[in-house]
This record gives sequence, structure tokens and C-alpha cells, in this order.
Amino acid sequence: MSPHRSDAPLRTAVVGTGGIARAGHLPALRTLAAEGKTEVVAAVDVDGTAVRAFADSFSIPYASTDLDAMLAEVRPDLVVLCTPPAVHREQSVAALRAGAWVWCEKPPCPSLADYDAIEAAEKGGDADPYASIVFQHRFGSGARHVRRLLRAGAFGRPLVAHCQTTWYRDAAYYAAPWRGHWATEGGGPAMGHGIHQTDLLLDLMGPWSEVRGMAARLVHDVETEDVSTAQVRFEGGAVATLVNSVVSPDEVSRIRIDCEHATIELTHLYGYRNADWHITPAPGVPEATAAGWRDFGADEPSSHLAQLRCLVDDIAAGRRHDTSGPGGRRTLEFITALYKSAFTDTPVRAGDIGPGDPYYTELHGGAPGWAPAGSGEEDHA
Ligand SMILES: NC(=O)c1ccc[n+]([C@@H]2O[C@H](COP(=O)([O-])OP(=O)(O)OC[C@H]3O[C@@H](n4cnc5c(N)ncnc54)[C@H](O)[C@@H]3O)[C@@H](O)[C@H]2O)c1
Repeated sequence: MSPHRSDAPLRTAVVGTGGIARAGHLPALRTLAAEGKTEVVAAVDVDGTAVRAFADSFSIPYASTDLDAMLAEVRPDLVVLCTPPAVHREQSVAALRAGAWVWCEKPPCPSLADYDAIEAAEKGGDADPYASIVFQHRFGSGARHVRRLLRAGAFGRPLVAHCQTTWYRDAAYYAAPWRGHWATEGGGPAMGHGIHQTDLLLDLMGPWSEVRGMAARLVHDVETEDVSTAQVRFEGGAVATLVNSVVSPDEVSRIRIDCEHATIELTHLYGYRNADWHITPAPGVPEATAAGWRDFGADEPSSHLAQLRCLVDDIAAGRRHDTSGPGGRRTLEFITALYKSAFTDTPVRAGDIGPGDPYYTELHGGAPGWAPAGSGEEDHA
């Protein structure tokens, strides 16, 4: 049974006190604290100066450089992981073993093997602590509205989709020593940047069945790719194209889904509001129907707050959160398949990659020094 009393604030520890902890998690946790739903009881970071400054600025009573000591002494209900992906597995497992729920930043962890090890550390009951992933784009009012209409069949069958994360990162960004390496960043833009739009696309479109990927290293001096593209087939028959890039000066995040009765478009950069969604009805759709589709209701932007509110309610109700278990694994499996397809030049089907497959344990499939196909580099790899 859950150790958490649903009427008590969720005692929360923040692990990793860098950029996203300050910009995304703390504001969300403090908003819910004001509503009596959360209480930030501890902060942990390997950098002692950083964690003390973080705790002092936000009046957090416990600061430490030692995660295990914090788990033993504070016994938090929820551990929020804002650390780099390479440590997500060990920290998620430690928190679960200490009886805490986990909300872990994307990318979930560097491989499906890591993800499965995290799931194996859960006790398994709906009311038992589980690990969930930060995929905040699923939780804005826009996605909620469109998902409900899609699943109800209001737009007819989804037919063809585009999913685009075309961003720009300069050499200074890649000067940080952990960036651009498989072991520390987890992957290139397919894993680190496009993951949000990919996750939302998969959430809206339903189960995918096959992916054919390409990857390239065009600008940056990195181990990973800096561009990837993919063609995707979904179980329902629809097809989609994906582009993930960090070399695109005119930055945009975009999803477009053409259905039998409407085109749905989302255009934004790092987060959306209702006004960023556009629905175009097919000829013959009654105006009253289209007006209903365009009524998104109260505006709740995609944000850490929107997802945390839902997670806290799920924990209190003893429900699995949407980005836990298979709902968090699906996007990592898809990205793994995209890399495998790109590096082996073959289509990859959903469910193909399991224990024994080199891509199950490493997104580069055992070849971190891969060379882009057709680049000429492969002769010297
Ligand atoms: N959801 C989003 O929109 C979003 C946006 C930005 C970053 N992120 C993700 O959040 C994570 C952190 O990114 P960031 O930009 O905040 O990085 P950052 O470098 O600013 O902060 C990371 C912090 O973790 C600390 N740290 C490193 N190893 C640790 C360990 N073993 N134990 C405890 N602390 C440790 C570092 O000292 C640093 O303070 C990454 O996985 C990143 O992809 C998500």
C-alpha cells in the first residue's frame, strides 16, 4: 500500500540543482506548495556550493551532496531528478528502493536496459511508488483537447503527420564537456532535443509499428549526430516524417496531423499555449462542429507545473501516471529504434529491440565512433 496519505503535502526532494531545477521544477513545486499539495524538504547536488545556494535561496531545510544519506535521513515521498541522464538509472533505483516516487527529467536514461532496470525496482502495484518521466508537452490543455478528440474519432482516421524539432545550438553549447557524447548526453537531438515533440506525436498518433531513420553529423565536432530524420508507420496505417536538428537558424517545434476530417497543427518553440494550436476542418465539416473543435477551454500551457499537478493527483489517488512504466518507455524505444535503423540502414519494428540486441544496452549499438552513411568517413571508421 502507498505510504502517502493523500491529504498530506507530498514531501519532495530535488536532486540536481542546475538550470531546469531552478527554471522548471522549483516554480512548479512552489505553486503546488501554496495549494498544500507539495513541500520541498531537501535538495541534493554533487556540487556542495551549488546545493547550499539553492537551498538558501528557496528556504529548503536540508541540503546534501549525498543522495543515499538524504534518502535515509529525510525519507521523502517524491524525488525529482534534475541531473544529467547518465545517473538517472542509479538515482531512480536508489529512490524507489527508499520507498519514494520518482519524477525524472528527460531523457529517461541512456538505454532500454537502464529503463527496464528502473521498472524492475518498482514493487508493481498501482499505489506503490513508481518512476515517471518529465514529458511536460503531453500535459498542456491543447494536447489534452486534441488527444481527446482524436481518441474519440472526431477528426476521423489520422492519415499523415509531420513532426519537426529544428533548433540551433552553437559551438559554445557543445563546449560543455558532457555534451555531444553518448555516455554523458545520451544521444544527439533525436534523444536530447526532439524527444519532446516525438513523445507528443506518439501520444497523439497511437502505437507505431515501423521506423526507417537516417542520422548525420554536419556541423558539430561531436560523437553523436547533430541531425536525424525518420519515416514512421503507425499500427492504424498512418505514416509520418520526423526531423530533429540542432543546426537550424530559424528555430521551430512543429507537429502537423492530417486526418480524414481536419488538419491539426501545433507551432511553437519550447512550450505551447492554446493559441499555438490550429485546426482546419475538411470541406463539408459543419461550422458548428469546427467551432467546437476550436474551443480549447481554459488555457493551461505545457509546463512542468501542468504535469506535476497531474502527477501529484495520480499519486494521491493511487493511479499510475501516464509517463510511468510503458507510457514512459514507448518514446525511448522509438528513439532507440530510430538510431538502430539509421546506423544499420534497415527498417526497425516496434518490439524488435530486446535483451541480446546491441542497441538494447547502447543507443549507438556498440559503435560510438559511427560514421554517417555516405559521408566518406566510413572508410576510415
Ligand atoms: N524538460 C525540459 O524541458 C528540460 C529542459 C532542460 C533540461 N532538461 C533535462 O534536465 C536534466 C538536467 O539538465 P540541466 O540543464 O538542468 O543541467 P545542469 O547542468 O544545469 O544541472 C545539472 C545539475 O546536476 C548536478 N549533478 C550532476 N551529477 C550529479 C549527481 N550524480 N548527483 C547529484 N547532482 C548531480 C550538477 O552539479 C548540476 O547542478 C537533463 O537530463 C536535461 O536533458 C529538461
